[in-house]
Formats: sequence, C-alpha cells, structure tokens
Amino acid sequence: MSNQAISTNVVWHQATVTRARRELQNGHRGAIIWFTGLSGSGKSTLAHALEESLHQKGCRTFVLDGDNVRHGLCGDLGFSSVDRVENIRRIGEMAKLFMEAGIIVLTAFISPYRTDRERVRAMVKEGDFIEVYCDSSLEVCESRDVKGMYKKARSGLISEFTGISSPYEAPEHPELDINTGLLNLEDCVQQVITEMILRGLAPV
Ligand code: ADX
Repeated sequence: MSNQAISTNVVWHQATVTRARRELQNGHRGAIIWFTGLSGSGKSTLAHALEESLHQKGCRTFVLDGDNVRHGLCGDLGFSSVDRVENIRRIGEMAKLFMEAGIIVLTAFISPYRTDRERVRAMVKEGDFIEVYCDSSLEVCESRDVKGMYKKARSGLISEFTGISSPYEAPEHPELDINTGLLNLEDCVQQVITEMILRGLAPV
C-alpha cells in the first residue's frame, strides 16, 4: 500500500471548529508523542504512565497501543515489512486526526523503520511530532521477556520477530532518548514531562 489516494471526486471539507479553537478550549496544544523501541522496551508502560500524569494535570490525552490497535483497525496486518509499513501509515494518519482534535496522542508501536517514522513526522508541522526512543538493549528486553515472545522467537515459533529475525532501526535524532533499560518508570515519565514543558506541550 502507499500514501497515494486512489479515491476520486472527493473534496476536503473545511471545519469551522478548528484545531486552534479546540486547543484554546483544552488549554494546551495537541501533539503526537511517538514512542519507539523493541518489544518489551517499556513503550506502552511509559505511554500509559505518562498519560496518567498528563490526565491529572487536566490534559486531554489518548494512547494508541500496538497490541490494542492490532485487534481492530490493523487486525488484518501481520509482521512482514510490507504490513508493518502499512500499520505505521494507518497509525500516523490516526494520530494526526487525534492531534487535530486537540489531543495529546501517545503512540506505542515498535515502528521499526526509520523512514516510516520520518514519514509521519513529515505529515505534521515542526514541533508536533516528538520522537521518544525507549532505549533498552535487546539483551535487557529479552531477559525480561514479559510476554514470553522472545523465547518463542528464538525457538522459531514466531517468525520475523523484531530484534531476532526482523530489523529494528534505532532513531538517529530523537527528541528524547530514554534509557528505559536502566531508569525506573517515574524517572522516565519525568523526563518526558520535562521535555514537554520545555516545548510548551504540557502545563508546568
Ligand atoms: S510494528 O512493528 O508494526 O510497529 P506493533 O508495535 O504494531 O509492531 O506490534 C508489536 C507487538 O506485537 C509486540 O509488542 C508483540 O507483543 C506482538 N508481536 C507479535 N508478533 C511479533 C513479531 N513478529 N515482531 C514483533 N512483535 C510481534
């Protein structure tokens, strides 16, 4: 699949309730906080803990999570490179819609390919896309093996598993590189909040 739309005779309808008006009402900007990292690197845990913290500050948020989205919107996709590209394309489009609704959307997908993440970044304005690398080594993720998937991947029961039999391309210039393999959850959340405050994306 590609980004090329094949629908014809469709005309964009301009909303009167704009992103700016929604953001004014919410009291904060919409944004995409894009977590990337190996399976088991703490993306979902961090995204949900961050959401809790932002919610308590009165922010409007939503978490899009790999395992959940693959039950619905992306339930027809597997883990081949073609399917992963399509997975991230759909998530990118959805995240953009959430952001335009004035929401701080937190996405937790392996999103293993650099070009896919950069494509999402390019879809939005500068400053709208914050890439957070959940930087935990394969050794650490595999030793935790929370879902038992690395064991299955090593024994050949799961094919094309990221880090084992499918590549992961770490970000070269993420807005944030968090050592989720070492830091505790609270410190990781604080790092993201601090960065968001600096960028005017979260209230102090
Ligand atoms: S992505 O590569 O397309 O971004 P996504 O984040 O949606 O992946 O889904 C990853 C989750 O699917 C993992 O956390 C894991 O629980 C599960 N999974 C099942 N099979 C695989 C596989 N072959 N590679 C990676 N993750 C897999």
